[in-house]
Amino acid sequence: MQKNREQWNSKIGFILAASGSAIGLGNIWKFPYIAGENGGASFILIYLFCIAIIGLPVLIAEILLGRTTQRNPVGAFRKLTESKFWIGVGGMGVVSGFLILSFYAVIAGWAIGYIVEALVGNFSHFSTGAVASEHFNSLVTDIPWIVGYFTLFMIITMLFVYLGIQKGIERGSKIMMPILLVLLVILMIRGITLEGSEEGLAFLLNPDWSKIDAQAILIALGHAFFTLSLGMGAMLTYGSYMSKKDNVASAALQIVILDTVIALIAGVAIFTSVFAVGLDPSAGPGLIFHTIPAVFAKMPGGYYFSILFFSLLSIAALTSAMSLLEVVVAFFVDDLGWNRKKATIAMGFVVFLLGLPSALSFNILADYTLFGKTFFDIIDFLASNIFLPLGGFLIAIFVGYVWGFDKVLANLREGAENLFDNYPYVITTWKFFLKYLSPVLIFIVLLHSLGIIDLIF
Ligand code: TRP
Repeated sequence: MQKNREQWNSKIGFILAASGSAIGLGNIWKFPYIAGENGGASFILIYLFCIAIIGLPVLIAEILLGRTTQRNPVGAFRKLTESKFWIGVGGMGVVSGFLILSFYAVIAGWAIGYIVEALVGNFSHFSTGAVASEHFNSLVTDIPWIVGYFTLFMIITMLFVYLGIQKGIERGSKIMMPILLVLLVILMIRGITLEGSEEGLAFLLNPDWSKIDAQAILIALGHAFFTLSLGMGAMLTYGSYMSKKDNVASAALQIVILDTVIALIAGVAIFTSVFAVGLDPSAGPGLIFHTIPAVFAKMPGGYYFSILFFSLLSIAALTSAMSLLEVVVAFFVDDLGWNRKKATIAMGFVVFLLGLPSALSFNILADYTLFGKTFFDIIDFLASNIFLPLGGFLIAIFVGYVWGFDKVLANLREGAENLFDNYPYVITTWKFFLKYLSPVLIFIVLLHSLGIIDLIF
């Protein structure tokens, strides 16, 4: 069925594309506020530990599954087993791709909309935190605004996937990831040089061990997993375009380092600014759209920083969205024999239809709830809290126990001969983490997401 499957043009191309998937709203929006709420530096240390013991091992497993089989999640399992159960696990990954992209693109649309708000100089709407929140509410209840930017974001995402691996995703990532880093460093320097920035740094970097409890550890674990785009085969699919000459383990390590460094810089950029203008650092999920515009409105030259910040957010979301759509498109191309262009347009449209009720959940559908959750909340919960940890758990089990560990090692060795020959204990450690620690810890995250753990403790 497969003619010439594309490959990344270079190893750095793969690393940037995969880091682009990992670095997203999770790094810039979620990480800073959960770190702030859960003990700052103490939380960050625990988070780094979680990244090392479950993030990295599962990331290696996912990329390896893709590179070995050269397929999307469904095709990958189909190539390695006949079991309908495991092929279904791949199917759950493809379904998660549809679901996550449908609501992720709604939020990403806001980021684009906020670039425009800043460009047209709607600054009076952001003068204080309260006014900014009110303006936010008036924007998300404006249906043409919310649906329009959602549609625009989907079209841009589709364009990159339509152009293919090398010309679309790789080229786009090679241009956008350096821009993202530069924007973030500018914002960090701006933050640190503000008067009163020490307070923000202290909030983020002083350890407060009294805030570390089981809950904080579970949040760190869950986020370690989410931020690396694990559990649904996005990294698997990107790995499927990787050459057997490249080293999977070292690529994974580089992706993890980039993702973590960006999250930390984002934390510094955001909290120094928030404290410098005396706004509430514990604004939680609303931090980005309610607080940040007000922060910039109070700063000299804030207009430009606001444009930079929301451009940064849009780029981060775009490179993540591309990987989500790629999982879906790769399935239709590999397994159903569609061509890439047709698959991109058709599936992009399906995601758009699925995303509409999510966009409308902030306005006309706001009162249609199930267990107090809107359509948006339900899709988010189902995908992020159930499918992703479940998928990650099953991927760790498959690679650790079902695939056959001698085959796993033989495939991992390709491109990593030096590592295997000179540092064999690295491989032994990976095996131990993947087989024993990761599945248990991810399973605990799943129970926590479902609220089962909270019932026990
Ligand atoms: N890692 C992304 C972020 O931090 C979010 C994400 C989770 C994701 N799972 C994914 C992105 C799968 C792409 C594919 O924002």
